[in-house]
Amino acid sequence: MRLAQVTGRPFGEFVLLNVQSKESAGAALYLKSVREASQVEKICRKLAFRGWRFSQKKLKQSDWFDKWKEDYQIRPFGKKFIVVPQWRRQELKAGWRIPIYINPGGAFGSGEHETTRLTVRLLERAGAPFKNFFDVGTGTGILAVAAAKLGAGNIWVLDLDSASVDAAEANLRLNRGPKPKTWRRSLETLRTGRKFEFVAANLVSDVLIENRRKLAALTRPGGRLAVSGILKSNLPGFLKAFKSPHLKKLCVLKGRCWSAVLYQRLKN
Ligand SMILES: C[S@@+](CC[C@H](N)C(=O)[O-])C[C@H]1O[C@@H](n2cnc3c(N)ncnc32)[C@H](O)[C@@H]1O
Repeated sequence: MRLAQVTGRPFGEFVLLNVQSKESAGAALYLKSVREASQVEKICRKLAFRGWRFSQKKLKQSDWFDKWKEDYQIRPFGKKFIVVPQWRRQELKAGWRIPIYINPGGAFGSGEHETTRLTVRLLERAGAPFKNFFDVGTGTGILAVAAAKLGAGNIWVLDLDSASVDAAEANLRLNRGPKPKTWRRSLETLRTGRKFEFVAANLVSDVLIENRRKLAALTRPGGRLAVSGILKSNLPGFLKAFKSPHLKKLCVLKGRCWSAVLYQRLKN
């Protein structure tokens, strides 16, 4: 079982640090140098990884990129979609699922991570089409593309990583979606009076909780707010901390490790 897959920027040399337990659980970490890999290995050995096997392998840029591309396959996504890596378009067989073409580049959001997969299911549940959609922490823009394919005509995306916003724009173009309005900044520094019919925020619990008032305010009365990136073990604490008189909890989805919640903004 592989616990971690990293889709980082394929530049320069990498060192692959494999960590394997006797029970065949493991992680593959891609680091920038032997020095960095050795430091991480040392820390892991001191912490919770007693009895695990460690191995390091130097990868050239081409090895790394080819390996990562090889691993990224066409896969169903939610109930309605199928994610197609841009370079596998020719391999897509005709079917009823709606294709989402993605070139992740260095951004998060290949569609393989459970947090993204839970969010798209919440998006599908909301019963589109919604007129406008706000993708907070857009990464590759995969959720914005899904929203566009469900009929959203106006798309806003935000990410503190400018390269992710570039990727989201490129992926919307690749899917013939609308040109998105973009915010290249953190959610914390966003100042706007706009309200959206659907807000999707796949971040992490702490950031969601810290920004709960802002996320509620960004959602139009009657609109939906999907939050993801909540570890299942943190869910009870999250639900308590995220409670708001302006939000009604509609549903909670649980995956293997992660959970996601759909709220409705009340008309007050
Ligand atoms: C878990 S990824 C989600 C990507 C994509 N939306 C998906 O569902 O696969 C989180 C993204 O949010 C961005 N991000 C993290 N914290 C943020 C913050 N405080 N403000 C804005 N963007 C943030 C990261 O750069 C990253 O691209």
